Amino acid sequence: MCGIVGYIGKKNSLPILIKGLKRLEYRGYDSAGVAYIKDNNIKIVKTVGKINNLDKLLNYNDESFIGIGHTRWATHGSVDTTNSHPHQAGSITIVHNGILENYQELKEILTNKGYTFKSDTDTEVLCAYIDYEYNQTKNILDALNNCMKVFEGSYATAIMVKDIPNKLFVMKKDSPLVIGIGEQENYIASDISAYADETSAYIILEDMEIGQIEKDNISIYKNKKEIKYNIEQVEQDAFDSDKNNYEHYMLKEISEQENLMDKLNNIYLKNLDKIMDISKYNKIHIIGCGTAYHAGMIGKYLIENYSDFEVNTYIASEYRYQKIFADDKTLVIAASQSGETADTLACIKKVKKYGCKTLGIVNVKNSSIARAVDEVIYTEAGQEVAVASTKAYSSQVYIFSLLALKLGITKGLINKNEINKEYEKLPSYIKELTNYDYEDIISKIWQAKDVFYLGRGIDYISMLEGSLKLKEISYVHSEAYQAGELKHGTISLIEKDTPIIALISDETIALKTISNIKEVKARGAYVVLLIKEDLNINIDKECYDKIIEINATDNLLQPILNVIPLQLIAYNIAKKRGCDIDKPRNLAKSVTVE
Ligand code: AGP
Repeated sequence: MCGIVGYIGKKNSLPILIKGLKRLEYRGYDSAGVAYIKDNNIKIVKTVGKINNLDKLLNYNDESFIGIGHTRWATHGSVDTTNSHPHQAGSITIVHNGILENYQELKEILTNKGYTFKSDTDTEVLCAYIDYEYNQTKNILDALNNCMKVFEGSYATAIMVKDIPNKLFVMKKDSPLVIGIGEQENYIASDISAYADETSAYIILEDMEIGQIEKDNISIYKNKKEIKYNIEQVEQDAFDSDKNNYEHYMLKEISEQENLMDKLNNIYLKNLDKIMDISKYNKIHIIGCGTAYHAGMIGKYLIENYSDFEVNTYIASEYRYQKIFADDKTLVIAASQSGETADTLACIKKVKKYGCKTLGIVNVKNSSIARAVDEVIYTEAGQEVAVASTKAYSSQVYIFSLLALKLGITKGLINKNEINKEYEKLPSYIKELTNYDYEDIISKIWQAKDVFYLGRGIDYISMLEGSLKLKEISYVHSEAYQAGELKHGTISLIEKDTPIIALISDETIALKTISNIKEVKARGAYVVLLIKEDLNINIDKECYDKIIEINATDNLLQPILNVIPLQLIAYNIAKKRGCDIDKPRNLAKSVTVE
């Protein structure tokens, strides 16, 4: 989702802005632009498509020491140059991430005052309103402060003012923004990964704060008063954005799951004190979006089945508006890779009003969700660049397994020594599954229009994740179904050669799923069966076309292994279809608007 950069200092700003924008490409975007000051004039260059398109339009001989830049992920108005950022009104030029919810109302006010608008965006209105306030107050800090009282919605903005050519301004509510601190130079970015190699110190702007940034000074204001700020340090190795000879980040990140399990064993399994004791709560709610929600659903099954405690899981975009039953004895667990997902963050803010305790299972250190929750367990997966989440998912499932394990041990339901051995075997099992040759299966199903994923119980949740992976990166329509549910409608879609991917890892209901697989096979489906290797059941060879045996581990950990073939099937289908695997169309890595 939109990325913001800014620079003020002693170097030519253009290459620095472009470098920052390229680093933020992973967030997802459809157009890009910059504004910079040259000879006291603000120049704007913007275009649709990749940053390389913008790069080609820039005149790098235009030396400028102050500028802002933006990657836009369209929300209001189509993808075109007029709608892309920066936007300008009077003395003000801005880039913006977020949604100004009351922009129609403000547009009407501004139109009555003589403002005209070129674009369909909320951002142009936001820009014009700042200009209007600036004309009234003649003081930019007062103007921004007044705007914050009027603006509804979310915004992280970087602002240039025509008659203040030696300063940049920023303000923020509910969208992320950081200020990187350099020597005689300072940076602005949506996240510090944009400039982590330029500076190791940064400030995280909090909601309702305004920043005034000069090349050798930074001041932060809240409610018209200058306030003290904390300086954070970039963690070494936090941003490993090298592809290491892998064709795609997604493949690299799938492969990294092997070592990640080792890392997590060392950090957490050997020190269960780092894992929250969830036994003292009456209720547990788990929230998340997309893949993180799927990890949360696996978490529900693990905590319910292995530590005998009822858990409810919710999609964050629903939970934030629905009636909830929660109080100070409720633990709300938020799962998020980026730690910036607007809906998940809004849920945390909501449940605090109910007095709930909050736990974040988060990958990105110091992210908004990590800072908003009472306690955080980091998933330690390192930077995930591919839009399709893989290693973040398995690390979230891992942490959920430890929450269940710790509670199960406390209740005397799980034997720690036995299960420890299974955790230690995870890396070698993952290695085997990543090295498996999926080509035979892919060659049969890569051209399909629809793919159906079947499973029961916890296997169905893995299939939801497998299906999401396929959809998002290959653009093949797919659905995951509880195997027993198909005959209540969807089986009408099954015809000759319709691909069905079925997962069986739970012995207790394996024969039931097999019956369902036979039903689709009888209607001509092409069945790929993923099955836990040592299940004590007889499987009729007639009921599948291809079989992949998944290494057997304890049921508490089995979902971590089950997802690996699903990730690789999706990856290889997308590759064969020539898709832009790491940056699929329309998608953003960090979803900072609702
Ligand atoms: C995963 O492949 C997706 N790109 C998406 O569903 C993602 O998991 C979701 O947007 C939540 O993001 P988060 O983990 O950063 O909160």
